[in-house]
Amino acid sequence: MTTTRRVALIRRPTGQATPDCFEVGDVELCPLEPGEVRVAVEFISVDAGTRTMLRGEGFHMQVGIGETIRAGGVGRIIESTADDWEVGQAVIGGLGAQTVSTLPASEIRRVDDTLGPLSLHLGVLGGSTGVTAWIGVREVAKPGPGDDFVVSAAAGAVGSIAGQIAKRDGARVIGIAGGAHKTTHLVETLGFDAAIDYKNDDVNAKLRELCPDGVTVFYDNVGGPILDAVLDNLAMRARVVICGALSQYDDMDNVTGPSMYLRLAERQSCMEGFAYFHFPQSFRPATEELAEWVADGSIVLPETVLEGIDRYPEALQFMFEGGNTGKLLVSTMR
Ligand SMILES: NC(=O)c1ccc[n+]([C@@H]2O[C@H](COP(=O)([O-])OP(=O)(O)OC[C@H]3O[C@@H](n4cnc5c(N)ncnc54)[C@H](OP(=O)(O)O)[C@@H]3O)[C@@H](O)[C@H]2O)c1
Repeated sequence: MTTTRRVALIRRPTGQATPDCFEVGDVELCPLEPGEVRVAVEFISVDAGTRTMLRGEGFHMQVGIGETIRAGGVGRIIESTADDWEVGQAVIGGLGAQTVSTLPASEIRRVDDTLGPLSLHLGVLGGSTGVTAWIGVREVAKPGPGDDFVVSAAAGAVGSIAGQIAKRDGARVIGIAGGAHKTTHLVETLGFDAAIDYKNDDVNAKLRELCPDGVTVFYDNVGGPILDAVLDNLAMRARVVICGALSQYDDMDNVTGPSMYLRLAERQSCMEGFAYFHFPQSFRPATEELAEWVADGSIVLPETVLEGIDRYPEALQFMFEGGNTGKLLVSTMR
Protein backbone atom coordinates (compact mmCIF):
# COMPACT_ATOMS: atom_id res chain seq x y z
CA MET A 1 0.00 0.00 0.00
CA THR A 2 1.37 3.46 -0.96
CA THR A 3 1.43 6.12 1.72
CA THR A 4 1.86 9.86 1.68
CA ARG A 5 3.48 11.87 4.44
CA ARG A 6 1.39 15.00 4.66
CA VAL A 7 1.16 18.24 6.61
CA ALA A 8 -2.30 18.93 8.03
CA LEU A 9 -3.66 22.06 9.72
CA ILE A 10 -4.63 21.18 13.30
CA ARG A 11 -5.08 24.68 14.77
CA ARG A 12 -5.83 28.04 13.16
CA PRO A 13 -2.94 30.38 13.93
CA THR A 14 -3.51 33.56 15.85
CA GLY A 15 -0.59 35.75 14.90
CA GLN A 16 2.30 33.91 13.32
CA ALA A 17 1.77 30.46 11.78
CA THR A 18 4.00 28.54 14.19
CA PRO A 19 4.91 24.83 13.87
CA ASP A 20 2.34 23.78 16.51
CA CYS A 21 -0.46 24.72 14.07
CA PHE A 22 0.50 21.76 11.88
CA GLU A 23 0.80 17.99 12.20
CA VAL A 24 2.92 15.79 9.96
CA GLY A 25 1.77 12.19 9.57
CA ASP A 26 1.57 9.19 7.24
CA VAL A 27 -1.69 8.40 5.46
CA GLU A 28 -2.46 5.27 3.43
CA LEU A 29 -3.64 5.90 -0.11
CA CYS A 30 -6.56 4.25 -1.92
CA PRO A 31 -6.16 2.67 -5.37
CA LEU A 32 -6.36 5.22 -8.20
CA GLU A 33 -9.74 6.06 -9.77
CA PRO A 34 -9.87 6.16 -13.59
CA GLY A 35 -8.25 9.35 -14.96
CA GLU A 36 -6.09 9.93 -11.89
CA VAL A 37 -2.34 10.16 -11.43
CA ARG A 38 -0.10 9.65 -8.43
CA VAL A 39 2.83 12.05 -8.21
CA ALA A 40 5.99 11.75 -6.11
CA VAL A 41 6.41 15.36 -4.99
CA GLU A 42 9.97 16.73 -5.16
CA PHE A 43 9.58 20.41 -4.19
CA ILE A 44 6.78 22.28 -2.44
CA SER A 45 6.39 26.01 -2.94
CA VAL A 46 6.19 28.12 0.22
CA ASP A 47 4.15 31.24 -0.50
CA ALA A 48 3.34 34.20 1.73
CA GLY A 49 -0.29 33.96 0.56
CA THR A 50 -0.62 30.53 2.22
CA ARG A 51 -0.85 32.34 5.57
CA THR A 52 -4.16 33.90 4.46
CA MET A 53 -5.56 30.43 3.62
CA LEU A 54 -5.27 29.33 7.27
CA ARG A 55 -7.84 31.80 8.61
CA GLY A 56 -11.10 29.97 8.00
CA GLU A 57 -12.51 32.69 5.80
CA GLY A 58 -11.14 35.23 3.40
CA PHE A 59 -10.00 35.95 -0.09
CA HIS A 60 -7.98 32.88 -0.95
CA MET A 61 -8.99 29.23 -0.89
CA GLN A 62 -9.20 28.18 2.75
CA VAL A 63 -7.72 25.11 4.44
CA GLY A 64 -10.06 23.22 6.80
CA ILE A 65 -8.94 21.80 10.12
CA GLY A 66 -7.49 18.33 9.46
CA GLU A 67 -6.97 19.07 5.76
CA THR A 68 -3.66 18.95 3.91
CA ILE A 69 -2.09 22.38 3.46
CA ARG A 70 -2.69 23.66 -0.06
CA ALA A 71 0.54 24.31 -1.94
CA GLY A 72 1.95 24.28 -5.43
CA GLY A 73 4.45 21.54 -6.10
CA VAL A 74 6.52 19.80 -8.75
CA GLY A 75 7.28 16.11 -9.05
CA ARG A 76 7.07 13.03 -11.26
CA ILE A 77 4.22 10.64 -12.01
CA ILE A 78 4.71 7.27 -10.31
CA GLU A 79 1.34 5.71 -11.21
CA SER A 80 -1.35 6.64 -13.75
CA THR A 81 -4.79 5.53 -14.92
CA ALA A 82 -5.09 8.58 -17.22
CA ASP A 83 -4.65 8.30 -20.99
CA ASP A 84 -1.43 9.95 -22.25
CA TRP A 85 0.04 10.50 -18.77
CA GLU A 86 3.10 8.30 -18.44
CA VAL A 87 5.06 7.26 -15.38
CA GLY A 88 8.18 9.44 -15.09
CA GLN A 89 6.57 12.56 -16.58
CA ALA A 90 7.56 15.76 -14.71
CA VAL A 91 4.49 17.74 -13.67
CA ILE A 92 3.35 20.81 -11.72
CA GLY A 93 0.09 21.50 -9.92
CA GLY A 94 -1.60 21.99 -6.58
CA LEU A 95 0.11 18.91 -5.15
CA GLY A 96 -0.26 20.00 -1.51
CA ALA A 97 2.25 19.87 1.35
CA GLN A 98 2.91 16.12 1.14
CA THR A 99 5.27 13.57 -0.36
CA VAL A 100 2.81 11.79 -2.69
CA SER A 101 -0.14 13.50 -4.32
CA THR A 102 -3.14 11.77 -5.91
CA LEU A 103 -5.28 13.89 -8.20
CA PRO A 104 -7.14 13.95 -11.53
CA ALA A 105 -4.76 14.37 -14.46
CA SER A 106 -6.82 17.41 -15.52
CA GLU A 107 -5.40 19.28 -12.49
CA ILE A 108 -1.72 18.99 -13.44
CA ARG A 109 0.47 20.33 -16.26
CA ARG A 110 3.55 18.83 -17.86
CA VAL A 111 6.80 20.70 -17.29
CA ASP A 112 9.97 20.65 -19.37
CA ASP A 113 12.62 19.00 -17.22
CA THR A 114 15.40 19.93 -19.67
CA LEU A 115 15.33 23.60 -18.62
CA GLY A 116 16.99 22.92 -15.24
CA PRO A 117 15.98 21.55 -11.85
CA LEU A 118 12.24 21.05 -11.39
CA SER A 119 12.24 23.72 -8.67
CA LEU A 120 12.68 26.32 -11.44
CA HIS A 121 9.00 25.85 -12.30
CA LEU A 122 8.00 27.04 -8.81
CA GLY A 123 10.53 29.90 -8.76
CA VAL A 124 11.42 32.01 -11.81
CA LEU A 125 8.85 30.21 -13.98
CA GLY A 126 6.23 29.74 -11.24
CA GLY A 127 2.74 31.27 -11.44
CA SER A 128 2.88 32.72 -7.91
CA THR A 129 6.50 33.89 -8.32
CA GLY A 130 8.12 34.81 -11.65
CA VAL A 131 4.86 35.03 -13.58
CA THR A 132 3.29 37.20 -10.84
CA ALA A 133 6.29 39.55 -10.95
CA TRP A 134 6.21 39.71 -14.78
CA ILE A 135 2.49 40.53 -14.78
CA GLY A 136 2.82 43.08 -11.97
CA VAL A 137 5.65 44.88 -13.76
CA ARG A 138 4.70 44.52 -17.42
CA GLU A 139 0.89 44.69 -17.23
CA VAL A 140 0.33 46.93 -14.21
CA ALA A 141 3.35 49.00 -13.10
CA LYS A 142 4.83 49.46 -16.61
CA PRO A 143 8.12 51.12 -15.56
CA GLY A 144 10.60 52.50 -18.09
CA PRO A 145 13.57 54.85 -18.48
CA GLY A 146 13.29 57.85 -16.16
CA ASP A 147 11.37 55.91 -13.50
CA ASP A 148 12.56 55.47 -9.93
CA PHE A 149 11.07 52.01 -9.24
CA VAL A 150 10.93 50.94 -5.59
CA VAL A 151 10.04 47.36 -4.59
CA SER A 152 9.39 45.98 -1.09
CA ALA A 153 10.20 42.42 0.13
CA ALA A 154 12.80 42.95 -2.57
CA ALA A 155 15.02 40.01 -1.64
CA GLY A 156 12.08 37.58 -1.56
CA ALA A 157 10.75 35.51 -4.46
CA VAL A 158 8.36 37.93 -6.20
CA GLY A 159 10.31 41.08 -5.27
CA SER A 160 13.64 39.79 -6.64
CA ILE A 161 12.14 39.08 -10.04
CA ALA A 162 10.02 42.26 -10.14
CA GLY A 163 13.10 44.42 -9.52
CA GLN A 164 15.15 42.63 -12.17
CA ILE A 165 12.41 43.01 -14.80
CA ALA A 166 12.01 46.73 -14.00
CA LYS A 167 15.78 47.13 -14.35
CA ARG A 168 15.73 45.37 -17.75
CA ASP A 169 12.95 47.75 -18.78
CA GLY A 170 15.17 50.76 -18.09
CA ALA A 171 14.07 51.94 -14.62
CA ARG A 172 16.38 52.85 -11.76
CA VAL A 173 15.58 50.18 -9.14
CA ILE A 174 15.67 50.49 -5.36
CA GLY A 175 14.85 47.49 -3.18
CA ILE A 176 13.63 47.48 0.42
CA ALA A 177 14.58 44.42 2.49
CA GLY A 178 15.52 43.42 6.04
CA GLY A 179 19.21 43.18 6.95
CA ALA A 180 22.58 44.21 5.51
CA HIS A 181 23.15 40.79 3.93
CA LYS A 182 19.96 41.27 1.88
CA THR A 183 20.70 44.85 0.79
CA THR A 184 24.20 43.78 -0.30
CA HIS A 185 22.68 40.87 -2.22
CA LEU A 186 20.21 43.20 -4.00
CA VAL A 187 22.95 45.50 -5.27
CA GLU A 188 25.82 43.07 -5.84
CA THR A 189 23.99 39.96 -7.08
CA LEU A 190 20.71 41.20 -8.53
CA GLY A 191 22.13 44.48 -9.94
CA PHE A 192 19.71 46.86 -8.21
CA ASP A 193 20.86 50.49 -8.15
CA ALA A 194 20.38 50.89 -4.38
CA ALA A 195 18.77 49.18 -1.40
CA ILE A 196 17.24 50.19 1.92
CA ASP A 197 17.48 48.03 5.04
CA TYR A 198 14.09 48.65 6.66
CA LYS A 199 15.17 46.93 9.89
CA ASN A 200 18.07 49.35 10.46
CA ASP A 201 17.52 52.41 8.25
CA ASP A 202 15.00 55.23 8.53
CA VAL A 203 13.06 54.27 5.38
CA ASN A 204 11.50 57.71 4.93
CA ALA A 205 14.87 59.51 5.21
CA LYS A 206 16.57 57.01 2.90
CA LEU A 207 13.85 57.43 0.27
CA ARG A 208 14.26 61.21 0.39
CA GLU A 209 18.02 60.78 -0.06
CA LEU A 210 17.84 58.17 -2.85
CA CYS A 211 14.85 59.62 -4.72
CA PRO A 212 15.00 63.41 -4.20
CA ASP A 213 12.49 63.94 -7.02
CA GLY A 214 10.15 61.29 -5.60
CA VAL A 215 9.31 57.65 -6.27
CA THR A 216 7.56 57.28 -9.62
CA VAL A 217 6.62 53.57 -9.31
CA PHE A 218 6.17 51.51 -6.13
CA TYR A 219 5.70 47.74 -6.35
CA ASP A 220 4.45 46.83 -2.88
CA ASN A 221 4.54 43.36 -1.37
CA VAL A 222 4.32 44.25 2.34
CA GLY A 223 1.94 47.15 3.14
CA GLY A 224 2.01 48.70 6.65
CA PRO A 225 4.62 51.30 7.61
CA ILE A 226 6.71 50.73 4.46
CA LEU A 227 3.74 51.56 2.23
CA ASP A 228 3.18 54.73 4.26
CA ALA A 229 6.84 55.77 3.95
CA VAL A 230 6.76 55.36 0.17
CA LEU A 231 3.40 57.16 -0.17
CA ASP A 232 5.00 60.05 1.72
CA ASN A 233 7.74 60.18 -0.94
CA LEU A 234 5.75 59.88 -4.15
CA ALA A 235 6.57 61.95 -7.20
CA MET A 236 3.78 63.66 -9.14
CA ARG A 237 1.72 61.19 -11.21
CA ALA A 238 3.26 58.15 -9.52
CA ARG A 239 1.88 54.59 -9.69
CA VAL A 240 1.57 52.39 -6.61
CA VAL A 241 1.00 48.71 -7.40
CA ILE A 242 -0.37 46.49 -4.63
CA CYS A 243 0.91 42.96 -5.23
CA GLY A 244 0.49 41.93 -1.59
CA ALA A 245 0.59 43.16 2.01
CA LEU A 246 2.32 40.41 3.93
CA SER A 247 2.93 42.59 7.01
CA GLN A 248 -0.85 42.31 7.54
CA TYR A 249 -1.42 38.59 6.94
CA ASP A 250 -0.88 37.48 10.56
CA ASP A 251 -3.83 39.58 11.75
CA MET A 252 -6.28 40.07 8.90
CA ASP A 253 -9.09 41.08 11.28
CA ASN A 254 -7.17 44.22 12.14
CA VAL A 255 -5.56 45.31 8.88
CA THR A 256 -3.78 48.65 9.21
CA GLY A 257 -4.56 50.67 6.11
CA PRO A 258 -2.22 53.34 4.76
CA SER A 259 -2.45 56.55 6.77
CA MET A 260 -0.63 58.55 4.05
CA TYR A 261 -3.07 57.82 1.25
CA LEU A 262 -3.98 61.49 0.78
CA ARG A 263 -0.57 61.87 -0.88
CA LEU A 264 -2.25 60.16 -3.83
CA ALA A 265 -4.54 63.18 -4.21
CA GLU A 266 -1.78 65.71 -3.54
CA ARG A 267 0.56 64.11 -6.10
CA GLN A 268 -2.15 63.17 -8.65
CA SER A 269 -1.10 59.55 -8.27
CA CYS A 270 -2.87 56.21 -8.44
CA MET A 271 -2.86 52.93 -6.56
CA GLU A 272 -3.84 49.69 -8.30
CA GLY A 273 -3.96 46.12 -7.06
CA PHE A 274 -3.81 42.91 -9.06
CA ALA A 275 -3.73 39.15 -8.73
CA TYR A 276 -1.84 37.13 -11.32
CA PHE A 277 -4.93 35.04 -12.14
CA HIS A 278 -6.61 38.19 -13.49
CA PHE A 279 -4.20 37.98 -16.45
CA PRO A 280 -4.46 34.44 -17.84
CA GLN A 281 -3.58 35.73 -21.32
CA SER A 282 -0.15 36.75 -19.96
CA PHE A 283 0.87 33.35 -18.56
CA ARG A 284 2.33 32.13 -21.84
CA PRO A 285 4.31 35.25 -22.87
CA ALA A 286 5.54 35.65 -19.28
CA THR A 287 6.72 32.06 -19.01
CA GLU A 288 8.37 32.14 -22.44
CA GLU A 289 10.28 35.33 -21.74
CA LEU A 290 11.30 34.25 -18.23
CA ALA A 291 12.53 30.91 -19.69
CA GLU A 292 14.68 32.84 -22.21
CA TRP A 293 16.25 34.85 -19.39
CA VAL A 294 16.89 31.68 -17.39
CA ALA A 295 18.53 30.09 -20.42
CA ASP A 296 20.83 33.06 -21.10
CA GLY A 297 21.58 33.49 -17.38
CA SER A 298 20.33 37.08 -17.26
CA ILE A 299 17.87 36.57 -14.40
CA VAL A 300 18.82 35.36 -10.94
CA LEU A 301 16.65 33.85 -8.22
CA PRO A 302 18.45 32.04 -5.41
CA GLU A 303 16.56 29.30 -3.59
CA THR A 304 16.33 28.72 0.15
CA VAL A 305 15.44 25.05 0.63
CA LEU A 306 14.22 23.44 3.85
CA GLU A 307 15.10 19.74 3.52
CA GLY A 308 12.36 17.24 4.34
CA ILE A 309 8.58 17.37 4.58
CA ASP A 310 8.90 17.38 8.39
CA ARG A 311 10.28 20.93 8.10
CA TYR A 312 7.19 22.33 6.36
CA PRO A 313 5.55 23.31 9.70
CA GLU A 314 8.35 25.81 10.37
CA ALA A 315 8.38 27.21 6.81
CA LEU A 316 5.86 30.06 7.12
CA GLN A 317 7.31 31.32 10.38
CA PHE A 318 10.77 31.14 8.80
CA MET A 319 9.56 33.21 5.84
CA PHE A 320 7.68 35.81 7.89
CA GLU A 321 10.81 36.29 10.02
CA GLY A 322 12.79 36.95 6.82
CA GLY A 323 14.74 33.65 6.76
CA ASN A 324 14.59 33.26 2.99
CA THR A 325 16.59 34.97 0.29
CA GLY A 326 14.90 34.35 -3.06
CA LYS A 327 12.42 31.50 -3.43
CA LEU A 328 11.54 29.45 -0.33
CA LEU A 329 10.93 25.76 -1.00
CA VAL A 330 10.53 22.58 0.99
CA SER A 331 12.12 19.54 -0.62
CA THR A 332 10.70 16.13 0.21
CA MET A 333 14.19 14.68 0.65
CA ARG A 334 15.20 14.13 4.26
N1 LIG B 1 -0.91 39.54 -6.46
C1 LIG B 1 -0.60 38.27 -6.71
O1 LIG B 1 -1.12 37.62 -7.63
C2 LIG B 1 0.44 37.60 -5.86
C3 LIG B 1 0.90 36.30 -6.17
C4 LIG B 1 1.92 35.74 -5.38
C5 LIG B 1 2.43 36.47 -4.29
N2 LIG B 1 1.91 37.70 -4.03
C6 LIG B 1 2.43 38.51 -2.91
O2 LIG B 1 3.82 38.73 -3.12
C7 LIG B 1 4.41 39.03 -1.86
C8 LIG B 1 5.70 38.23 -1.74
O3 LIG B 1 5.35 36.86 -1.57
P1 LIG B 1 6.43 35.69 -1.69
O4 LIG B 1 5.68 34.42 -1.56
O5 LIG B 1 7.28 35.95 -2.89
O6 LIG B 1 7.29 35.87 -0.36
P2 LIG B 1 8.82 36.27 -0.22
O7 LIG B 1 8.96 37.69 -0.69
O8 LIG B 1 9.70 35.23 -0.82
O9 LIG B 1 9.02 36.20 1.35
C9 LIG B 1 8.49 37.15 2.18
C10 LIG B 1 9.57 38.16 2.63
O10 LIG B 1 8.90 39.29 3.16
C11 LIG B 1 9.70 39.93 4.12
N3 LIG B 1 8.86 40.33 5.27
C12 LIG B 1 8.24 39.51 6.15
N4 LIG B 1 7.54 40.23 7.04
C13 LIG B 1 7.71 41.52 6.71
C14 LIG B 1 7.24 42.76 7.24
N5 LIG B 1 6.43 42.79 8.32
N6 LIG B 1 7.61 43.92 6.65
C15 LIG B 1 8.42 43.88 5.57
N7 LIG B 1 8.91 42.75 5.02
C16 LIG B 1 8.55 41.60 5.58
C17 LIG B 1 10.78 38.95 4.52
O11 LIG B 1 12.03 39.44 4.07
P3 LIG B 1 12.84 40.59 4.88
O12 LIG B 1 14.05 39.90 5.42
O13 LIG B 1 13.16 41.57 3.81
O14 LIG B 1 11.94 41.09 5.96
C18 LIG B 1 10.44 37.66 3.76
O15 LIG B 1 11.58 37.01 3.27
C19 LIG B 1 3.35 38.70 -0.81
O16 LIG B 1 2.71 39.88 -0.40
C20 LIG B 1 2.37 37.82 -1.56
O17 LIG B 1 1.09 37.83 -1.01
C21 LIG B 1 0.94 38.27 -4.77
